[in-house]
Amino acid sequence: MILIIRGLLTICITGTSLIMIQQTTPWIVPDKYVKMPNPVKADTKSLAAGKALYVVNCEACHGKKGLGNGTKAPDLKTVVGNFTKDTFQSQTDGTIFYKITEGGDEMPNAKKDLPYDIDRWNLVNYLRTFAAAKK
Ligand code: HEC
Repeated sequence: MILIIRGLLTICITGTSLIMIQQTTPWIVPDKYVKMPNPVKADTKSLAAGKALYVVNCEACHGKKGLGNGTKAPDLKTVVGNFTKDTFQSQTDGTIFYKITEGGDEMPNAKKDLPYDIDRWNLVNYLRTFAAAKK
């Protein structure tokens, strides 16, 4: 009995420290996602759907033009990414898809609110439009 309880406690402690490590280290994106091809073509329909989702779910933090200057951004401890920068845009679609899906630290994960993969791929396509907006 005690052994079982100790076993459970160990698991709990390990679980907690794993979560803490995840929060303080940079996003680790599994290879499977980095290489994942985007199955949704960035046509006008996809971009319109992505924009509609962005305005409702993302703009408050990431800002209208993806600069990271949304109305909620000053309240956050973490710097919100800037979607117009090459450092952001040079990431693969699959990497961005993973980050939206899983979230990280103050970035909420979207898999609960946006459970359909197509919604998150539409968002990836929409985030790509911010690169052009800069120039
Ligand atoms: C509560 C504020 C908040 C909301 C809402 C939010 N984000 Fe974020 N997002 C963040 C923060 C903070 C970061 C930076 C996290 C980090 O670097 O640890 C981030 C990071 C990201 C990144 C990674 C940026 C990079 O440089 O690689 C992507 C992609 C992203 N968000 C997309 C979205 C999308 C799409 C939505 C809407 C579905 C959304 N976010 C909603 C706060 C938010």
